[in-house]
Amino acid sequence: MLMIKNLCAEIEGKPILKGLCLEVKAGEIHAIMGPNGAGKSTLAKVLSGHPAYEVTEGEVWFKGQNLLEMEPEERAHHGLFMSFQYPIEIPGVSNKQFLQIAFNSKCKANGQAELSEEEFNQYLDHKMKLMEIRSEFKERNVNENFSGGEKKRNEILQMAVLNPDFALLDETDSGLDIDAMRIVAHGVNQLMNQGMGLLLITHYQRLLDYIRPKFVHVMLDGKITQSGGPSLALELEEKGYEVLR
Ligand SMILES: Nc1ncnc2c1ncn2[C@@H]1O[C@H](COP(=O)(O)OP(=O)(O)OP(=O)(O)O)[C@@H](O)[C@H]1O
Ligand SMILES: [Mg+2]
Repeated sequence: MLMIKNLCAEIEGKPILKGLCLEVKAGEIHAIMGPNGAGKSTLAKVLSGHPAYEVTEGEVWFKGQNLLEMEPEERAHHGLFMSFQYPIEIPGVSNKQFLQIAFNSKCKANGQAELSEEEFNQYLDHKMKLMEIRSEFKERNVNENFSGGEKKRNEILQMAVLNPDFALLDETDSGLDIDAMRIVAHGVNQLMNQGMGLLLITHYQRLLDYIRPKFVHVMLDGKITQSGGPSLALELEEKGYEVLR
């Protein structure tokens, strides 16, 4: 599904990713943990095609295609989904409009029929119920004046609507209250169909009690330095990252 080989990337001439390797197969959940500044969000931005980052070495293959040669929107149309640590606000565009445009442009790019407003409305209602999001959020502008936790939940709604093949969620659990975390985790688990790949970036092991990863990786200074099963997350929580440096 996603294969990252020796990925090196820099921003404004400063190397951040320094030879990162990772493979996520279809149906697998992976988690990345690591100290502040290790480059976790940078990985998310590089994979999404953020123009500020320059890839200096390495390869990324997504569903057999060279991801680094694709435009950001092609990556999304091809089934890549990113939820960022700091979701952006889009004033003047309602959540419903935004989601319908995103959904239909993906359909169009993949040669599938677009949904009419009414059809999309029904589809969206179903997804909002799944994520336990109140219907007033349809008409509100994308993330504008949403609380931190509401923005995170809205990101998962976007994911539910777009049905990606691979999703990377960057600290989706930060700022969520306990109930919201359960709801978000439940939603993610429901969306995880057999074929989807998922990469969770998190600081806290408790998310992994709700969304069980197959592998946990530690990222230190721009690369994966250790990989293990879910017990690695417990160990890290107990001992911290210092022992690994
Ligand atoms: N424009 C920039 N110029 C210089 N350095 C930058 C720039 N943008 C990011 N960095 C640096 O890149 C490094 C990696 O940042 P990144 O956001 O990827 O870390 P992270 O692992 O996601 O951390 P956190 O756990 O705090 O979210 C940090 O040291 C950050 O200061
Ligand atoms: Mg980050």
